[in-house]
Amino acid sequence: MGPWRRRWQGPGLWGLCCLVLGSWPGLLACPTSCRCSAWRIWCTEPAPGVVSFPRLERSAERDNISDIYIANQRKLESINDNEVGLYIGLRNLTVVDSGLKFVSRQAFLKNINLQYINLSRNKLSSLSKKPFRHLSLSDLILVDNPFKCSCDIMWIKIFQETKFSNAETQDFYCINDNNKRIALMEMQIPNCGLPLANLSSYNLTVLEGNSITVYCDATGVPLPNVSWAFTNLVSNHESDTSKNPASLTIKNVSSKDNGLRISCLAENIVGEDQASVELTVFFAPNITFIESPTSDHHWCIPFTVKGNPKPTLQWFYEGAILNESEYICTKIHVINQSEYHGCLQLDNPTHLNNGAYTLLAKNEYGEDEKRVDAHFMSMPGDGSGPILDPDLYDYETTPNDIGDTTNNSNQITSTGFINTENEDSITVYVVVGIAALVCTGLVIMLIILKFGRHSKFGMKGPSSVISNDDDSASPLHHISNGSNTPSSSEGGPDAVIIGMTKIPVIENPQYFGITNSQLKPDTCGN
Ligand SMILES: *[C@@H]1O[C@H](CO)[C@@H](O)[C@H](O)[C@H]1NC(C)=O
Ligand SMILES: *[C@@H]1O[C@H](CO)[C@@H](O)[C@H](O)[C@H]1NC(C)=O
Ligand SMILES: *[C@@H]1O[C@H](CO)[C@@H](O)[C@H](O)[C@H]1NC(C)=O
Ligand SMILES: *[C@@H]1O[C@H](CO)[C@@H](O)[C@H](O)[C@H]1NC(C)=O
Ligand SMILES: *[C@@H]1O[C@H](CO)[C@@H](O)[C@H](O)[C@H]1NC(C)=O
Ligand SMILES: *[C@@H]1O[C@H](CO)[C@@H](O)[C@H](O)[C@H]1NC(C)=O
Ligand SMILES: *[C@@H]1O[C@H](CO)[C@@H](O)[C@H](O)[C@H]1NC(C)=O
Ligand SMILES: *[C@@H]1O[C@H](CO)[C@@H](O)[C@H](O)[C@H]1NC(C)=O
Ligand SMILES: *[C@@H]1O[C@H](CO)[C@@H](O)[C@H](O)[C@H]1NC(C)=O
Ligand SMILES: *[C@@H]1O[C@H](CO)[C@@H](O)[C@H](O)[C@H]1NC(C)=O
Ligand SMILES: *[C@@H]1O[C@H](CO)[C@@H](O)[C@H](O)[C@H]1NC(C)=O
Repeated sequence: MGPWRRRWQGPGLWGLCCLVLGSWPGLLACPTSCRCSAWRIWCTEPAPGVVSFPRLERSAERDNISDIYIANQRKLESINDNEVGLYIGLRNLTVVDSGLKFVSRQAFLKNINLQYINLSRNKLSSLSKKPFRHLSLSDLILVDNPFKCSCDIMWIKIFQETKFSNAETQDFYCINDNNKRIALMEMQIPNCGLPLANLSSYNLTVLEGNSITVYCDATGVPLPNVSWAFTNLVSNHESDTSKNPASLTIKNVSSKDNGLRISCLAENIVGEDQASVELTVFFAPNITFIESPTSDHHWCIPFTVKGNPKPTLQWFYEGAILNESEYICTKIHVINQSEYHGCLQLDNPTHLNNGAYTLLAKNEYGEDEKRVDAHFMSMPGDGSGPILDPDLYDYETTPNDIGDTTNNSNQITSTGFINTENEDSITVYVVVGIAALVCTGLVIMLIILKFGRHSKFGMKGPSSVISNDDDSASPLHHISNGSNTPSSSEGGPDAVIIGMTKIPVIENPQYFGITNSQLKPDTCGN
C-alpha cells in the first residue's frame, strides 16, 4: 500500500493519517475473518471465512507469530506446501471445526518449533505421517475426523501408544469398510507393521586400500524403502537400494574413514527403523608431524603419529636405541581417533643431548620413521644457551613470547622458565635491569623474594617461571581442547601487577622437589 500512497499524497495531514494507519500493527495486513496480534493469528469468524491458510504479507510480522488458531472455517480444505512454513516461530497450530481434508507432505517442513498441533473435528479421512516425522511434538490431536481404517493411519495408533499411556489414549475412532466406527486402539489391519533393518555385519573391519561391502536386510509389510546414512564418507562408494538386501560398497577404503558411523534406514508408511555400524580401518603408521624441541615445563620434541592399531613407538638417538628413563620418555597427550599427539619429553637436557633423534612407529601393517635434529643449550655457564636470550625478559612488550625460543610454526604459547646455574641468573638480572627500567625494581625485588623464600630447600639457583600465560600452555595446546595439564587461572596468588600487565610468577616445581600431584602427568618415570 505504501508506494501508491506516496505517489499522489504530499506530506500533509492525509498522508500522516495513512502512515499512522499503515503502521498500526496487523490492522491492515490481517486477513478477513481473522484478528492478528504480534504473536498470534486468530480466525474464528465463519463468514465470510478464509479459503486458504491465512497469510501475513510482511515477513517481519510473520516471524514473531507463535500461535495460529483457526476455527469454523468450512471453506479451508487444505494445508499446502509453503503456507505454514512462512511462520518459522510457530509453536501451536490449531485448526478445528473446519473443512480440512488434506495436509501436504511438506506442510511443516520449516516449522521446527512446532510443539502442539490440534486438528480436531475436521474432514480428514487419511493422513500421512510424513508431515510430522521431523517434528518433536508434545501433542498431536486428531480426534473427530472421519478417518478410514487403513494401514495409512496405523502410524497414528503407534504414535498414540508411544506418546501416551493407555489411560490417556485419545478417544479416537476410524470408519471401517462396513461404515462402522471402531476405536483406533482396536483397529487390526493385516500386513501392516513397522519395518525392521538388519545389517549383514556389525563389525565392519577393513584394511586401508581394500574394499568392503555391507548389506542391509529391510523387512516388513508394507515393504520398506531403504537408504544409507553417513556423514563425510571420503572413500569411493556405491550403493544399491533397489534390491533387498540393499548394499553399500566402499572401495579403496581411506584411513580417514576410520571410525565412521554407517546407518541403514528402513521406512514404510507405518514407521521406520535403523541399524548402525562403525567402520574400523586398519592402516600402517604415518608420522605426520615432528619438530625440533620446544621448551615448556620440560623440553619436548613434539610429534603426531597416525596408525590403527595403535603403533608402538621407539626413539633412536644418533642411530642407537634410546632407552627411556626418568629423564627422557615418550608421552602421549591427546588421542583423536587413531591420531596420537605427543612428546619425547626431556628433563634438563644439556649439550650432551644434542643430536639426531629418530622416531620409529610400527604396527602389524607397517612402519614409518622420521628424524629431527635437536640442539639444546651450550656448555653450562657460558650464558649463550637459547633460553638465556636477554630479549626474553622484555616483559613490557610481549610477555607471550617469553620462552618461545624456537620457531613455533604451530602458534604454541610457551611458558618460559629459567633453569640454569647461579651465574647465569646474575647475568640475566643485569640484562633485565637494562631492558625494563621501569619494572626492574619491582621484578628484582620479587624474584629476590622468591629466591629468598625457597633458598632453604637448597636448590642450585633461582628458578622462577615468568609467564603471563597459564601453565596449561603445553606444546600440544593447539591440538587439544581438553588439555592434559592443569590450568591455573590468570593472576594466581603470586600475580604481580606491573604497569598494565599482570605477570604471574610461578616456581618451576621440579627445582624444589615439590611433589605436586597436579603436575605428575608431566614427569617421566611414573
Ligand atoms: C518481534 O519480536 C522482537 C523481540 O521479541 C521485537 O523486537 C520485534 O519488534 C517484533 N517484531 C514485530 C514485527 O512485532
Ligand atoms: C501454546 O504454546 C504456549 C507456549 O508457547 C503454551 O503455553 C500454551 O499452552 C499453548 N497453547 C495450547 C492451546 O496448547
Ligand atoms: C483442540 O482444540 C479444541 C478447540 O479449541 C479444544 O476444544 C480441545 O480441547 C483441543 N484439544 C486438546 C487436546 O487440546
Ligand atoms: C540379522 O541378520 C543376521 C544374519 O545376517 C541373522 O543371523 C539375524 O538373525 C538377523 N536378525 C534379525 C533380528 O533378523
Ligand atoms: C571384528 O573383526 C575383526 C576381524 O574381522 C576381529 O579381529 C575383531 O576381533 C572383531 N571385533 C569384534 C568386536 O568382534
Ligand atoms: C586408492 O586411493 C589412493 C588415495 O586415497 C590412491 O592414491 C590410489 O591410487 C587408489 N587406488 C586405487 C586402486 O584406486
Ligand atoms: C519409497 O520410495 C518411493 C520412491 O522414492 C516413494 O515414492 C515412497 O513415498 C517411499 N515410501 C516411503 C514410505 O517413504
Ligand atoms: C602420511 O601423511 C601425509 C600427510 O598427512 C601424506 O602426505 C603421506 O602420503 C602419508 N604417508 C603415507 C605412507 O601414508
Ligand atoms: C639400552 O638398553 C639395552 C638393554 O636394556 C642395552 O643393550 C643398550 O645398550 C642400551 N642402549 C643405550 C644407548 O644405552
Ligand atoms: C580430530 O581430528 C580431525 C581431523 O583429523 C579434526 O577434524 C577434529 O577436529 C579432531 N578432533 C579433536 C577433538 O581434536
Ligand atoms: C623462523 O620463522 C620465520 C618465519 O616464521 C622464518 O623467516 C625464519 O627463517 C625461521 N627461523 C628458523 C631458524 O627456522
